[in-house]
Amino acid sequence: MTILITGATGNAGGAVVQSLAEQGVPGRALVRTATDLPAGIEPVYGDLNRPETFVGALPGVSGIFLLSGYERLDELLANAVRAGVRKVVVLSSSSLDGELTNAVAAYHHATEQAVRAADVEWTFLRPNSFMSNTLRWRDQLRAGDEVRVQFPEVPVSTIHPRDIGDIAVRALQGAHDSEVLRLTGPVALTPVEQVAVLAETLGRPLTAYPMSRAETHAELHTTMPEPYAAAIESFFGDGTVDETSVNTTVTDATGHPARTLQTWTQENRALFG
Ligand SMILES: NC(=O)c1ccc[n+]([C@@H]2O[C@H](COP(=O)([O-])OP(=O)(O)OC[C@H]3O[C@@H](n4cnc5c(N)ncnc54)[C@H](OP(=O)(O)O)[C@@H]3O)[C@@H](O)[C@H]2O)c1
Repeated sequence: MTILITGATGNAGGAVVQSLAEQGVPGRALVRTATDLPAGIEPVYGDLNRPETFVGALPGVSGIFLLSGYERLDELLANAVRAGVRKVVVLSSSSLDGELTNAVAAYHHATEQAVRAADVEWTFLRPNSFMSNTLRWRDQLRAGDEVRVQFPEVPVSTIHPRDIGDIAVRALQGAHDSEVLRLTGPVALTPVEQVAVLAETLGRPLTAYPMSRAETHAELHTTMPEPYAAAIESFFGDGTVDETSVNTTVTDATGHPARTLQTWTQENRALFG
């Protein structure tokens, strides 16, 4: 059994790489540039938008960890089926709880639909926001101790990417066929509370500046394309997606408690140096 991991240099794909390596499952990491990988995981070079660039990496692969939203997915899936791939685990998102027409839900939905239509087993992982999104505050932390936070009053049970990795590896080994798994972290914290956790770990007197809805709107619309900014505002500003509730899926699937934000910040404190 060999697993192909897409997005292997990113937060979620990197966590799948770690979980595979820890369990001694061989993997091929789809990367665009040379990167350090753990023992047992070999790099394969390719572009997710150009399936022909990694068709040669598919023979012998039993399962694919697939990021959503890339082009020519039908071609990728046809190549995979021809090469004998049996299982595709899609990294989808909580946005599919809400309406499917916004820009974020639409690309996840399209990916799920394409995989459902292919001749493979599948599992769809629909996680809440990742704890690694905390890294978006890094520039502010370099400038001082104040962190401007969007949607300050909305508690979110963010998830540790390693919990996604652990479940993905189980699914890639045959668990959770035809299951949609809604994944949350262990506790819902407002962004203000998340800053407090970071302050404790870093030993810094951080304070959170609660951005108003107008400030949040302006910042979102200057930092990302309009349809994505509108989707984020609808999720957290209008409450069209519930990332506050906590469920037990991580614990049920892995047998260990969902990792906490304290754990994530301690593991990643060097990134805030
Ligand atoms: N962040 C969240 O809160 C959240 C919540 C739910 C779902 N998601 C989903 O999870 C996905 C992954 O999140 P993440 O935080 O792991 O993202 P990330 O850290 O930005 O990683 C993205 C990965 O995709 C790779 N990549 C991008 N374009 C590619 C291409 N054309 N060909 C091959 N590889 C390509 C990147 O490789 P390079 O290193 O070469 O750039 C990187 O490894 C998101 O895109 C989103 O769909 C995210």
